[in-house]
Amino acid sequence: MLAGRRVLLVIGGGIAAYKSLDLIRRLRERGAAVVPVLTRAAEEFVTPLSVGALAGQKVYRALFDLTDEAEMGHIQLSRTADLVVVAPATADLMAKMAGGQADDLASTLLLATDKRVLIAPAMNVRMWNHPATQRNLATLAADGILRVGPNDGDMACGEYGPGRMAEPLEIVAAIEAALGQGPLAGRHVLLTSGPTHEPIDPVRYIANRSSGAQGAALGAALAALGARVTFVTGPAAVPPPAGVTVVKVETAAQMLTAVQAALPADAAVFAAAVADWRVANAAASKMKKDGSGRAPALVFAENPDILATVSRLVEGRPRLVVGFAAETDDVLANATAKRLRKGCDWIVANDVRPATGIMGGVENEVTLVTADGAETWPRLAKDEVARRLAARIAGALA
Ligand code: C5P
Repeated sequence: MLAGRRVLLVIGGGIAAYKSLDLIRRLRERGAAVVPVLTRAAEEFVTPLSVGALAGQKVYRALFDLTDEAEMGHIQLSRTADLVVVAPATADLMAKMAGGQADDLASTLLLATDKRVLIAPAMNVRMWNHPATQRNLATLAADGILRVGPNDGDMACGEYGPGRMAEPLEIVAAIEAALGQGPLAGRHVLLTSGPTHEPIDPVRYIANRSSGAQGAALGAALAALGARVTFVTGPAAVPPPAGVTVVKVETAAQMLTAVQAALPADAAVFAAAVADWRVANAAASKMKKDGSGRAPALVFAENPDILATVSRLVEGRPRLVVGFAAETDDVLANATAKRLRKGCDWIVANDVRPATGIMGGVENEVTLVTADGAETWPRLAKDEVARRLAARIAGALA
């Protein structure tokens, strides 16, 4: 519930602005007061009349509106809220925020506020992927700006990929989390993600095809429910999510050390694709061909099983331990056996045969194996799998 909470909602000029109307409704249903601010571009997409009617509030628009300055100056306006939310946060608004520009009411409020700011980016996939936007994003993250989304999906412009604004209920969850109110508020969740790299020599390594996408989506979903997330990640292809504590590692051994250092946790989720073996005779210098035609022989040693190690802890075992199982055959039978063998509570199993396109792809089809049996979920975007799983974790810890 958000009763008595005040949200200053900056609506940027993008097609996703229509979703902000629904966001206002959802926030008010939960008891929040919403003070809307429209940029000039936003008025091309939604009208001040509809925004004001839904918010039941005056809509703030121009910086040099003398009446407003007399009633409530822009500095005061930026400080009376409990949280400032920017939805949609366009590429332009993000650039202004990152650069500290203040040339209209929205950007001035964002520079003047002493409250936390949550952005819900929305833009075309190429604009999102552009190095300038990614630079701005990194700057905003370093400035402590919170973020929800964007999601992958079909976009209004006809393209597919990251850039769709998070759905209103996801933004509500992120707002609740930012205000310390999600169902996982006060809980610590430890999450591993990505592949590991096991060195052969200083320049070569053994890796796997895990992109880290499912782990990153899960980290975002857990944080959106208010969890404090420690995100231990191998060298993944996708960036870590906003709002989590990131610990970067390379090898399985380093991952185990980082996991042990992050405990205690209420729940631990092992989404990383950890190499089962490391090279025991890794060379200290780069291996070279010696002209004899003989190939070097690598000797493998088994890596520690991080999931099994944490599952079997006698003292300090997280209340819920979840493993993943990437299988190419007999998914259910293997996952069921794996749950017992590793001693974890749940296994999230998926079929990673190349034909499924799951490893490195944007969708996932999982079977959740618990002590009560197995349930197979439909094929869903990894973001959606993450949200469902995070909700189940919240339910288990409730
Ligand atoms: O045995 P398998 O590698 O299929 O098990 C997968 C699960 O175990 C995943 O949750 C993975 O993160 C975890 N695991 C681990 N440490 C290892 C190998 C796997 O934590 N050395």
